[in-house]
Amino acid sequence: EKRGGPIVDTKELVGEDLKDLKNNIRNLLGSGHPMLDTVSKYYFQADGKHIRPLIILLIAQATSLASKKVHVKVKDSYEEIDTPISELSNFHIPTLHNTNSTGLEVSTGHAVNPIYTPRINAVDHSYILPSQRRLGEIVEMIHTASLLHDDVIDMADTRRNLLSANESFGNKMAVLGGDFLLARASIALARLRNHEVTELISTVIANLVEGEFMQLRNGQVENGKNSRGKMTTFEYYMEKTYMKTASLISKSCRSSAVLGGASDELVDDMLDFTVSSEEFGKPTGADLKLGLATAPVLFAWEEYPELGKLIKRNFDREGDVETAWNLVLKSQGLAQTRKLAQIHCQRAIAAISLLPDSQAKSALIQLTEKVLDRKK
Ligand code: FPP
Ligand code: MG
Ligand code: MG
Repeated sequence: EKRGGPIVDTKELVGEDLKDLKNNIRNLLGSGHPMLDTVSKYYFQADGKHIRPLIILLIAQATSLASKKVHVKVKDSYEEIDTPISELSNFHIPTLHNTNSTGLEVSTGHAVNPIYTPRINAVDHSYILPSQRRLGEIVEMIHTASLLHDDVIDMADTRRNLLSANESFGNKMAVLGGDFLLARASIALARLRNHEVTELISTVIANLVEGEFMQLRNGQVENGKNSRGKMTTFEYYMEKTYMKTASLISKSCRSSAVLGGASDELVDDMLDFTVSSEEFGKPTGADLKLGLATAPVLFAWEEYPELGKLIKRNFDREGDVETAWNLVLKSQGLAQTRKLAQIHCQRAIAAISLLPDSQAKSALIQLTEKVLDRKK
């Protein structure tokens, strides 16, 4: 047993739902132009980790156990009842016409469309709604759009062991491929017919751009203060990281809970990962070469003030990258970065603890440990 209870097989919990993800995304991306098709689907060939949809589905399950309002069709009208979701199994397999922010719309008739049949976890009787699965697809599309653009900006030549899209098709097509993904994701988002979720996910898109923009301006460090007001370099780094990485994960979790009809109170308290640990622990030469001072470097700077001038000139002189690399390894920077990531994992765990016990809850707690120990 681990901290979060028994070790849970995440695949068993949401594997089936994740399996459809790539196919469903491909269906959302059909276009009349074969080349646009190829470019926009390109990054979905590789085996991505799908960490964002995974978290969304686990949150869906973990929050579905809380009591929620459900519209139940009785003869010709709908009645709103407040029920623990586990009791819903009394309605046989609920067939869904539609979902909205108040929760499930359950009818006693036959499913109009088989994809609207929710999967019920035999152990928990917990639900993943079609809208929540769709949210996972939307979020993965937005993430992939940002990667297409990111690889152009970073002039990356590989991604997920493939030639990058910009290398394969050129910058112009890679950018337009990303735009197309974003557009189709927006259509799917609109079709969820949930204003709160639309607002959350649209904010994420803006945040991704803001985070990337903050990173572009990263070099402008004056005496530990950054160009953006009075923020210290470290505060700026944390804000950038929130914008670029954590906002998507945090607001996706919230959206998943909102779609499931979780109460406002529950949603408010839940999973405000202020910063994800994803970003940390990788002062791969690549970041330095891009002129980026990440957390390990910023921590090392406190021990070795001489790093300051290298950070300021974006490691652009001969030998700067090696010097910085060696100082980081000699310093407490990596250990401090790990500690920082651990603190954020603890915060995430504290937020998750508010949910009723379930396998999905254990899996989410487990995930915080996995994220800390990941190697790629
Ligand atoms: C990867 O970072 C990049 C991101 C997480 C976000 C990039 C965002 C944009 C380019 C803004 C445009 C956004 C949209 C929605 C089109 P990285 O370069 O540090 O990591 P890597 O090692 O995966 O390349
Ligand atoms: Mg990159
Ligand atoms: Mg980048």
